[in-house]
Amino acid sequence: MKSIFTNTNISAEYKVNTPYNQETFLINGELKQWKNDTSKVFSPIYTKDEGGTLVPTFLGEIPNLGEKEALEALDAAVNAYDKGRGEWATLKVEERIACVAKFAKMMLETREEVVRLLMWEIGKPYAESCDEFDRTIAYIEDTLEALKAMDNEASEVKEHSGILAQVRRAPLGVVLCLSPYNYPLNETFCLLIPALIMGNTTIFKPAKHGILLLSPLLEAFQQCFPKGVVNIIYGSGRTLATPILKSGKVDVLALIGNSKSANILQEYHPKKNRLRLVLGLEAKNPGIVLPDCDIDLAVKECVLGSLAFNGQRCTALKILYVHEDIVEEFNQKFVAAVEELRCGLPWDEKVNITPLPEPHKPAYIKELIEDAKLKGAAILNPSGNQFEHSFASPTVLYPVNNTMKVYHEEQFGPVVPILSFKDITEPLEYISESNYGQQVSLFSKNSATLAPLIDSLVNQVCRVNINSKCQRGPDVLPFVGRKDSAVSTLSVHDALRTFSIRTLVAFRDTTVNTEILEKLLDSNKSNFIKR
Ligand code: G3H
Repeated sequence: MKSIFTNTNISAEYKVNTPYNQETFLINGELKQWKNDTSKVFSPIYTKDEGGTLVPTFLGEIPNLGEKEALEALDAAVNAYDKGRGEWATLKVEERIACVAKFAKMMLETREEVVRLLMWEIGKPYAESCDEFDRTIAYIEDTLEALKAMDNEASEVKEHSGILAQVRRAPLGVVLCLSPYNYPLNETFCLLIPALIMGNTTIFKPAKHGILLLSPLLEAFQQCFPKGVVNIIYGSGRTLATPILKSGKVDVLALIGNSKSANILQEYHPKKNRLRLVLGLEAKNPGIVLPDCDIDLAVKECVLGSLAFNGQRCTALKILYVHEDIVEEFNQKFVAAVEELRCGLPWDEKVNITPLPEPHKPAYIKELIEDAKLKGAAILNPSGNQFEHSFASPTVLYPVNNTMKVYHEEQFGPVVPILSFKDITEPLEYISESNYGQQVSLFSKNSATLAPLIDSLVNQVCRVNINSKCQRGPDVLPFVGRKDSAVSTLSVHDALRTFSIRTLVAFRDTTVNTEILEKLLDSNKSNFIKR
């Protein structure tokens, strides 16, 4: 295999000035200097050191905070919320909207820098990095509009059985937000922004990878929100999140990641009924390719679905069931399409497959392939099963069976397991037996074939994609899952509900109360009761 790390001629627009050190963290509105223990951040992109040896590029350092700083951040968020009496929680919705709009404006100015860091830190291709940034800005703008509409709707005073009421959505309290490395900007902001705009206060700890790309945004967070409303801390998840949860002072655990961490963390909370969970966890979305499908379209969508960003999407197609009548043609076309994918560095033109940010991932992918080979699968594509440092070429495995690890485990990497099936009950059984229940893709041109499958699968997963890959977007659609895949629903509209609770002020319909209500509505004295 030709080395993918040979392109030493990196254009200035893609370069990061190193060391890119994050020397501060945000607590109680203060960007505090950190002079103690730090962790080094390395890129999955290898470059030559002085001796000419390829090594992971050193990017910079981040603070390695401890329990003391974690509890300081917690105190700041708890005090800022002040049991619901804090400035942010009681602010008029329009004023919170103005703060977030100011933040989005400042964020736009950081686009180039954030995109560059996305490429270097997690190896995301340039076009996809730009897309992640732009999609996040669009998500914030759509959130502002959705909240305006929601607030307008809530202005109506309702009358039922002699009771007048104004019903609005109020914050939940203190939110601990932990985000994933694969969408370190988008997934973070899809939690943080709705949590903030609904009046909660937050503590945010970035994932293991994709940390420095948040540095250009720290000042915007500091300047746009009152002190203590956003607290950003760095370090080990276990060290920082454990004492925060054990304190019992967190009202919402918002975590996109794996169920192991989610289970451990929620167990720490001493008052479990008070802890609301917003979780996006593992998935193993299947693609089911039926004999009456458009094979070319199915191939195109399955390649994108299984290998976009090297298969590191929670929504990726992680197993393909292809009907035995067409499996030969499908496999041949699928392999041809995979072989067309361009392997390289994030800024290489039209690149598809790039280095993997998790250092252990290539070895794990290799392990899955070796296990499948031992148990009877073949590697279908000539360029499969090739590795170079952090890089793993895409590998297509067939025929896969239920004795193999890759059949059960969420690979989250560039390996595509394919099975053939005779009877539709085989993939349906796979889905109902699976621990996961996020999405499925069905490929068929025939509505009569699809109808009964749709009707049974909507009760197994939360999105049935017809003739298209699984995906989260567009972000106005609900993103949710069953079983071990998710808790709570996210979308522009749903996230505002997820991070808030309906609260109402009710008046018995008497002359005195009607007068009080009218005065409240006209005087602008309450931030809750208003027109
Ligand atoms: O990793 C999960 C992402 O939210 C997936 O988003 O399906 O739009 O790529 P996407």
